Amino acid sequence: MTLQEHIAQVAQQVEQFSASSQEALEALRIKYLSRKGEITALFEELRAVPKEEKAQYGQPLNLLRQKAEARINELRELLAQKKAADDVASADLTRTPDPIAIGARHPLSLVREEIIDIFSRIGFTVADGPEVEDDEHVFGLLNFAPEHPARDMQDTFFVEKEEGVQKPTDILLRTHTSSVQTRVMTEAAERLRSGEQSSIRVLCPGRVYRNEAISARAHCFFHQVEGLYIDKNVSFADLRQALLYFAKEMFGADTQIRLRPSYFPFTEPSAEMDISCNICGGTGCAFCKGTGWVEILGCGMVDPNVLEACGIDSKVYSGYAFGMGVERIANLKYRVKDLRLFSENDIRFLGQFQSC
Ligand code: PHE
Repeated sequence: MTLQEHIAQVAQQVEQFSASSQEALEALRIKYLSRKGEITALFEELRAVPKEEKAQYGQPLNLLRQKAEARINELRELLAQKKAADDVASADLTRTPDPIAIGARHPLSLVREEIIDIFSRIGFTVADGPEVEDDEHVFGLLNFAPEHPARDMQDTFFVEKEEGVQKPTDILLRTHTSSVQTRVMTEAAERLRSGEQSSIRVLCPGRVYRNEAISARAHCFFHQVEGLYIDKNVSFADLRQALLYFAKEMFGADTQIRLRPSYFPFTEPSAEMDISCNICGGTGCAFCKGTGWVEILGCGMVDPNVLEACGIDSKVYSGYAFGMGVERIANLKYRVKDLRLFSENDIRFLGQFQSC
């Protein structure tokens, strides 16, 4: 067979290329286009052709190779399309999709929202205020004497501090959200006086800072929800009733509370509230150190000095306040042993809290 006849023969075979699978197609490619393939062999034959005749074969041979390559690519494309169509036809459209990993809300957000939700059902609304505060709103208006130890460097992170002044004007990171309460009271004072507003009933959630060494049980920042209710004739019984309602809603209907006398500069009388241990039910366990009670918040009747400092007439108005740590409540609810887990953003920890 002459080279010309051979080219014509292979060209005819290329015209008839067909394949029913990618494997068959690959076999065709190897048969014709690989290093030992038929078309490659034609190029080998070309070498033996006398120089003057070479030009005559070179072009048809190149064309043949291009055609074979194009045909193989075309068939590959057709096979892929057919497979895609088959896949759709045979897909089980009733099958449930793979689960999508959705995020979970942070446990502290969940607990904060739950606290807000419980108190909002008895008329409390949320008030907000700055984390970087002045001395007056964090301490001054709250009846802290200028030399009160809570103002000390050991507890407070100061942003700007002036030593030895009569009336501190320091800028600091708030150590409690009672600072928001002083803002709410001073802003509402005028409206209370004119009768435009009859009472104050706010919750102050937010992050607070204290200069403490970080450990499993303490952190240099944590979260609080504080509450304030001011009206005419607010009594300690009102405070106790609101807190009992909260404890039962948060920890279950069987929960009991007890109030122990305590001291805060801004409340008089002041108390600390314990709930019956929600782990052992009050019989005594390691968590409650065998006492059956766990402390969850501080509270008291707003000191008349605080009302007066904020411009509210303490002969007309009285009020109660309370404040709790969100981490503390979350620990009781979820039994988290190490406080640091709340701020480390470890997905293995966070993923355990279902949002809905
Ligand atoms: N502000 C107090 C604290 O941070 C909590 C508190 C609020 C106590 C209101 C009594 C009344 O510890």
